[in-house]
Amino acid sequence: MQAPRLIEFGSIGNEEIGFLTVAEFGGDLPFKLKRAYWIYNTPELVERGGHAHKEDEIVVICISGEAKIIIKNVENQEFIFNLNKPNQGLYIPKMHWRELSLSNHATLFCLSSSYYDEQDYIRNYKTFQNHTIPK
Ligand code: TYD
Repeated sequence: MQAPRLIEFGSIGNEEIGFLTVAEFGGDLPFKLKRAYWIYNTPELVERGGHAHKEDEIVVICISGEAKIIIKNVENQEFIFNLNKPNQGLYIPKMHWRELSLSNHATLFCLSSSYYDEQDYIRNYKTFQNHTIPK
């Protein structure tokens, strides 16, 4: 089973002109990108997430503001990440439950390995815990 992990993307540029960060499959991005979406204008301390995906993998980048992300795997191990850097991503493998607490006006940029499919979501924690992973 893959584990969630931070990805340190490089930064190109300097303080005089600003910075540019790249996520490229074969480089730092661990899957071929099919979809990007972003979450923004969040009110203070809003909670989002509360689901896992059967197949989808994502990388979450907190472009601005702060995000505390709690990840749980099917063995009930818990991982906590605090994201607040635009050149840092959190890789969330498939079958990992996520809970997000976001700061006021946080912007989360999410890169996904699959097209949107509501059938890929597990939105009930008990169902997630009872889910068996094929060997
Ligand atoms: P959801 O993934 O539940 O967001 P969060 O975990 O941040 O709370 O998505 C919120 C809503 O947006 C839900 O109704 C599904 C819809 N949605 C799409 O239609 N397409 C997408 O690509 C995504 C990510 C969500």
